[in-house]
Amino acid sequence: MKLIFLGPPGAGKGTLAAKAVEICKVPHISTGNIFRSAIAAGSPLGLKVKAILDSGKLVDDETTIGLVKERLAQADVEKGYILDGFPRTIPQAEALAEFSAVEKVLNFDIPDSGVLERLGGRRVCRKCGHNFHMIFDKPSKEGVCDHCGGEVYTRDDDRPEAVQKRLEVYRAQTAPLIDFYRKKGLLVDVDARPRVDEVTENFKKVLGL
Ligand code: AP5
Repeated sequence: MKLIFLGPPGAGKGTLAAKAVEICKVPHISTGNIFRSAIAAGSPLGLKVKAILDSGKLVDDETTIGLVKERLAQADVEKGYILDGFPRTIPQAEALAEFSAVEKVLNFDIPDSGVLERLGGRRVCRKCGHNFHMIFDKPSKEGVCDHCGGEVYTRDDDRPEAVQKRLEVYRAQTAPLIDFYRKKGLLVDVDARPRVDEVTENFKKVLGL
């Protein structure tokens, strides 16, 4: 199954993807995670993109398309993938169509108030990437991941100014993809407002699983 998770920052794409990989048995490919790993490793890509991510703007299309094209050429995606955070612009979507045939695009439907609540409380494990939330899913011991013991931290781009920028960028550059994919008959809407278990059930329902 070749799926795209499309939606505003903090809609719960990464959280659902962690459940969806178990359901669909395909890898989760998150461009945001690839960039954050590169930053943590201090690689040339990381040095190039750090300031861009911190500000809430988008990395350039050429760099991002190149990364995804390379990733989708690997053997483990033969049966499918969950693309989370890509494409994010019309040129990225057009490029993707040239090297992979997406089957469904899941549009995470959530109002800005939901986004602000989720990003305001998000904490992430530096080691395994698990998402926590200070109200909805708190780590048992503050600052420590329940799954791997790694350090739980607040992402730099979850600062209020960066969140506002990310929402602006989403509206201007990513939201047009909703119409783009709807016209192609690939888009399905997922109500992303309820708690994780219910969103997971909604996900299964829209895919007929
Ligand atoms: P990226 O990492 O993709 O960020 P994003 O799209 O802004 O998405 P988030 O990771 O913030 O949110 P999410 O929807 O995954 O929500 P989550 O599950 O964590 O990208 C980061 C940056 O990289 C971009 O700004 C850009 O600079 C660059 N980049 C990435 N891709 C790019 C591209 N294609 N082109 C150019 N640049 C690119 O959930 C959020 C919180 O809510 C968590 O705390 C979670 O526990 C909680 N939560 C989730 N679901 C629920 C629920 N159902 N109920 C209650 N709480 C929930």
